Amino acid sequence: MNGTYKAVSAEEISKQNEYMSKLRIANDRYFLSAGYRRKVFSLTLGCQQNEADSERLMGMALKMGYERTENPEDASLIIVNTCAIREHAEKRALSLVGQYKHIKAKNPDLLIVVCGCMVVQEHRANEIKMRYPYVDIILGPSLMHRLPEHIWQRSGGGKRIFDSATDEYTVAEGLPVSRESSYRAWVSVMYGCNNFCSYCIVPYVRGRERSRRREDVVKEVRELIEKGYKDITLLGQNVNSYGKDSGFDYDFADLLAELDTIEGDYTLHFMTSHPKDATKKLVDVMAQSRHVAKHFHLPMQSGSDRVLKAMNRRYDFEKYIGILDYIREKIQGVTITSDIIVGFPGESEEDFEGTLNALRRARFDMIYSFQYSPRKGTPAAEMAEQIPQAVKSERFDRLLSLQNEISLESNKPFEGKTVRVLCDGPSKNNPDVYSGRTEGGKIVFFDGEEGDIGQFLNINIDRADTFALYGSIVR
Ligand code: SAH
Ligand code: SF4
Ligand code: F3S
Repeated sequence: MNGTYKAVSAEEISKQNEYMSKLRIANDRYFLSAGYRRKVFSLTLGCQQNEADSERLMGMALKMGYERTENPEDASLIIVNTCAIREHAEKRALSLVGQYKHIKAKNPDLLIVVCGCMVVQEHRANEIKMRYPYVDIILGPSLMHRLPEHIWQRSGGGKRIFDSATDEYTVAEGLPVSRESSYRAWVSVMYGCNNFCSYCIVPYVRGRERSRRREDVVKEVRELIEKGYKDITLLGQNVNSYGKDSGFDYDFADLLAELDTIEGDYTLHFMTSHPKDATKKLVDVMAQSRHVAKHFHLPMQSGSDRVLKAMNRRYDFEKYIGILDYIREKIQGVTITSDIIVGFPGESEEDFEGTLNALRRARFDMIYSFQYSPRKGTPAAEMAEQIPQAVKSERFDRLLSLQNEISLESNKPFEGKTVRVLCDGPSKNNPDVYSGRTEGGKIVFFDGEEGDIGQFLNINIDRADTFALYGSIVR
């Protein structure tokens, strides 16, 4: 262990705080003369890590004196937090940014900021520079604390700012945060990834692994619980690497055990855990904990050892299933979810059937499945034997139909049982019904009332289908 922890300096954070104050004064003046506040609109693509980053970007924007709007047409500041994980995510980001061109044409006061993983890639940064000249600022995820300074410079008439390339990876503490929810919260415990799975762009855009200090994480979680947060998810690309860069003999299982000692009515979740270094110690801590959700998200990616090797995942199916069996042995009633990629280069029909067999054996409650998407600069994108789109789609459908059967079988036993659910409020598709999630993340629909939002409820399940459980509240 060689403590490589490197914080953004206190001077840098206080400099950014000064820019926030200066912008606040300017925006307050604007309010006094115009009669309304400048507004900020923000949109997030990608994973929970990006959601968590966006809450900090929004926190900074509010501190600068912007008021939040849900309508980009009303905004003086638009922040698009992009993702690069698959081509589809990048296309969406570019098309959204494209839509803001006409808003900028109508409102020259508008600043457009594109940040997140996509813009770290040189070819995307150049593309935005050349083809989206109305974008004012691009900002990489490892540099987002510099947002205030960049907004100050650019709104003062400075040049367009391109600040996404860096090989210095730090941890920024003390940034303001505006959380989307008053009862579910994200807490990043580490940033970056060192694993270089051969298909994945994340290590290139998020940089090397660095952990937040234990005391910073514990303080943040403690404060959330004191504020009444009920559901806290610890985030990292591979939380099992937590602390390896700290120089202390303190790992993720230790962190989880320490957090679990905090008193209160709350549940702790974490994601994502890489199977190559998921430890028995972690499972044992979960099994003995009071607050850690009985939920394990353990991405398998493929059931074929040959493909796993080409993916550089550094485990085989036997090792994977060994962990799964250990989890099920120690944690009764655990929910297990996974990620699967179909159509990785060179994946044969036999390899794919290996994945189907692995699903039959692993019996996940749910999976997130993806068609392999080549990412520029990653080894897999250069591999011969890229799989034709038609084959990817066909395998994807077969994977889903098998998993749907398994999900239904894993949901059926809930019929007649009572489950504890955190209530989220009226369902998006049918406002007459309330929805919530079990600690394993299963969606539950029931008869709720406004006062139930953000509360734990006991729900008697009378029906289960492939995607959800249905029931009524036990009052
Ligand atoms: N760090 C997490 C995963 C983060 S990305 C882990 O290692 O488990 C979330 C998921 O996106 C991955 O698990 C993988 O299934 C999928 N994914 C990543 N790169 C992809 C690509 N190039 N094409 C398709 N799916 C991909
Ligand atoms: Fe990507 Fe692999 Fe890192 Fe996950 S562990 S972020 S899949 S490189
Ligand atoms: Fe996407 Fe970056 Fe997350 S690439 S999935 S937003 S880490």
